[in-house]
Amino acid sequence: MDGYAWVTIIEIFLTEGNACFTSSQVEINKIKTGSSFYQECRCDDPSSGVNLIWLDANNKTILPLRPGTKSNVYSEWLDKHTYSVYISNISKSTSGAYKCVTKHSGQTYMLTYNVEAYDPPYFVNTKENQYVISGKDGIITCEARGENDLLIKWHKEGEELEITDDEKYKVTPEGLIIKEITKEDEGVYKCSASDLDTGEGIDRDIKVEVIATPSIKELVAFPNTTPTLGESFYIECLASGVPHPEYTFRKISDMDLAETNITWQQVGNRIVFDIIQEEDSGTYECIATNRAGISTKNISIEVFLPPIITEFDNVTAVEGSTTQIVCKATGIPTPQISVTFLGEESEDQSIVWDKKNPNVNETEFYLSFLRVNRTHEGTYQCNATNEVGSIMEEMQLFVLYPPHFNTSYEKVWAWKDKSINLSCEHQSNPKAVITWRYQGNEILATDLLEINRLMADKMHSNPLIIKNKTLYGIYECTARNEFGEAKKIIHLQEGFTPPAINNVTITKITSSSVTFSIEGPNEVNGPDVIGYRSEYDEIDNYNITNIHLNRTWAKDRSFKLDRLKPNTSYVIKFAAINDVGNGPWSNIFNFVTLDRSVPNEPDWDENVEQLVASDRVLKWKPADSSDTVEFYTLKYCPIYDGLIAKSLCEEEQIEPTDEFQLNKMDANTTYYFELVAQNALGNSSAVRITVTIPAEEEPTLSSGAIAGIAILVIFLCLVLLDFLLLIWRRQGIIASCCYKKTNKREVSINSRDKKGLLKENPENIDKLKRPSNGHKEYEYNKTTGAITGKHSSV
Ligand SMILES: *[C@@H]1O[C@H](CO)[C@@H](O)[C@H](O)[C@H]1NC(C)=O
Ligand SMILES: *[C@@H]1O[C@H](CO)[C@@H](O)[C@H](O)[C@H]1NC(C)=O
Ligand SMILES: *[C@@H]1O[C@H](CO)[C@@H](O)[C@H](O)[C@H]1NC(C)=O
Ligand SMILES: *[C@@H]1O[C@H](CO)[C@@H](O)[C@H](O)[C@H]1NC(C)=O
Ligand SMILES: *[C@@H]1O[C@H](CO)[C@@H](O)[C@H](O)[C@H]1NC(C)=O
Ligand SMILES: *[C@@H]1O[C@H](CO)[C@@H](O)[C@H](O)[C@H]1NC(C)=O
Repeated sequence: MDGYAWVTIIEIFLTEGNACFTSSQVEINKIKTGSSFYQECRCDDPSSGVNLIWLDANNKTILPLRPGTKSNVYSEWLDKHTYSVYISNISKSTSGAYKCVTKHSGQTYMLTYNVEAYDPPYFVNTKENQYVISGKDGIITCEARGENDLLIKWHKEGEELEITDDEKYKVTPEGLIIKEITKEDEGVYKCSASDLDTGEGIDRDIKVEVIATPSIKELVAFPNTTPTLGESFYIECLASGVPHPEYTFRKISDMDLAETNITWQQVGNRIVFDIIQEEDSGTYECIATNRAGISTKNISIEVFLPPIITEFDNVTAVEGSTTQIVCKATGIPTPQISVTFLGEESEDQSIVWDKKNPNVNETEFYLSFLRVNRTHEGTYQCNATNEVGSIMEEMQLFVLYPPHFNTSYEKVWAWKDKSINLSCEHQSNPKAVITWRYQGNEILATDLLEINRLMADKMHSNPLIIKNKTLYGIYECTARNEFGEAKKIIHLQEGFTPPAINNVTITKITSSSVTFSIEGPNEVNGPDVIGYRSEYDEIDNYNITNIHLNRTWAKDRSFKLDRLKPNTSYVIKFAAINDVGNGPWSNIFNFVTLDRSVPNEPDWDENVEQLVASDRVLKWKPADSSDTVEFYTLKYCPIYDGLIAKSLCEEEQIEPTDEFQLNKMDANTTYYFELVAQNALGNSSAVRITVTIPAEEEPTLSSGAIAGIAILVIFLCLVLLDFLLLIWRRQGIIASCCYKKTNKREVSINSRDKKGLLKENPENIDKLKRPSNGHKEYEYNKTTGAITGKHSSV
């Protein structure tokens, strides 16, 4: 207490003499902070004068409000004997004892009103919306503070009973613990706090939502985790959680996060790479977040790169040295390399190859030539391939070598006024420098001058062109490059026409034509003979005129004159021709054409039987004839059992030729052939042969064996005939033996056939069977003498 204040009070008491009340009492008032307080103090005995004052907690007199002032604590006269005090806003600082004091006879009486301000309970940390996590224990926070201990009570909206501690709930000063939260626990909870002392209570509705932590269910890449460079690509993340989680992505990188370029754009739960780049390879993290928590998952991406050939350079090597072609390629996955030579492959043991992988995603291919030569020169292709692509490049291997001539000596003919090119053709790499030298001797000084001029002019040219004035002699061409040199000698000689020919023989003469054989000349001092010329005429004309018929033949043609008159004497002379010109005429030859007549008979080829067996072709030598043979007539008949089947003979006219294909003939059958040549004058005599067409795919029988078999068959037939006649005569049936024999065979071949078909029309049956087995009754009686030819069997 302030001592000074007390002095003041005592002074007041001493100056006043009346008392309004004579009792003292103490009253306690608990008042909520912020509310107001009002207390009247009545003077019960106003007769002795109203003597009342109010003292505040500090024993200061509380004064009434004066106009224009404001005070939290003031006093007021309600009427003449009621004096009241107002506290408009109670706080802790205004708490204390407020006293109404009166005095009587030196006695001080006071009514004491203890005003105790108290704070009402209030909530701290109590949010109106709260979240608990599904599946876990959670707490609904509700903390209340107050002057005194507070009683906290919980209610859930829609439920009557107060929540008390049990298996599910536990009420704590911090809040309500709910165990094993499920969706059911969602709702509005009322938290009530009451001050038992003051009776003050507060409550709050708390809306509780049950949430779930995110969980990433799927993190997938499209189209796959190995996209190809340049493709569009995305990664999708799928997470569960309540509320629905938010997605973020990041690339996990050794570098600082800041340094990782974001090369994608996020669209919802995806990150999209419009054009994926090599540096986009790596591990990506999807982060799913909501109020309940966070979940992450990683995915690794490798961007596939199509192969790139990083090295495949042209190589130049000197022949005989060791060299190497290198192809290097990179790509993801690591590429495979192959190298191909676009040239003639050879089994070259001196070429070896090797492969290396110096780094992941890099392949090197080495093609080594232990001794490179010019056949290795050319284009090489390197092909690098991996799962996502293939690339091909080409390089050139250049092989350097000294000049080389295919022939080191050449003889060249020239003659008057002929331009000539002397060729110094060679192979070399690099290109060689050509120089010419002339070694002619015995030449005129003027010519030498000319040659020197020419050489100076054409020192390095190829070919050396010599025009108009021909300078014979030996020319030497030298081709030189940095790896060596080679020489070629060209002997330029004067060429002459061929000498006269005198060895001409007639190889064939007819009524209208003559064919010559021309020999030589043996030695030509000049270019080779390219043809022959002739001049001819009837002997009677020859001396009358200078204009004769002439004919020129190329060297390799048949030297034949035709459209001659029959039975006429001719004269003819010949000359050989070369590039220089016509040689001199030969001596004159005479010949006489033949009289016209029918052709001679043609002759069979020496190997006719062998050719029939092996090639199925009938060959002959063309018939000699004064007039041209116009056609041949070939007649052919099959032979059965050694007998010519005359009714089956056929005849064909053939254009002049010397062979006839036997494809339409029956196999395993012997034929009789007759050949006649015909010209304008008539037919030659016939030439005949009997040959057997071999069975198909069977070893052929020699003609001797065929003849032997034919004889044997006929012999057996005769024996059988004899025997059968004997038997059938006894039975009274007269029939040909062969018919019967055929009949019997048919039975044995096909017993169901019996004899029916054969009886009906035996001739038809025989024709039907002819190709494989021919026994002809009607031929039997007409046999003898018909089988002719080299191997007549009868
Ligand atoms: C290799 O040689 C070829 C043919 O001469 C040429 O076209 C090409 O440019 C060369 N390549 C390189 C890389 O020099
Ligand atoms: C390269 O080789 C692969 C496999 O042998 C083939 O499929 C591809 O067509 C080749 N590519 C080229 C450009 O030659
Ligand atoms: C000689 O060479 C020239 C030029 O190369 C050419 O025009 C001419 O036709 C050639 N002559 C002969 C006979 O080869
Ligand atoms: C004429 O040619 C024949 C053969 O064609 C030959 O035998 C003969 O020796 C040659 N005679 C002369 C003189 O060349
Ligand atoms: C060759 O004969 C024809 C007529 O057949 C004639 O015109 C030509 O002048 C003759 N040639 C010679 C070189 O006699
Ligand atoms: C050829 O014919 C004879 C009788 O004509 C026969 O015995 C032989 O089996 C036949 N050969 C072939 C291969 O057909």
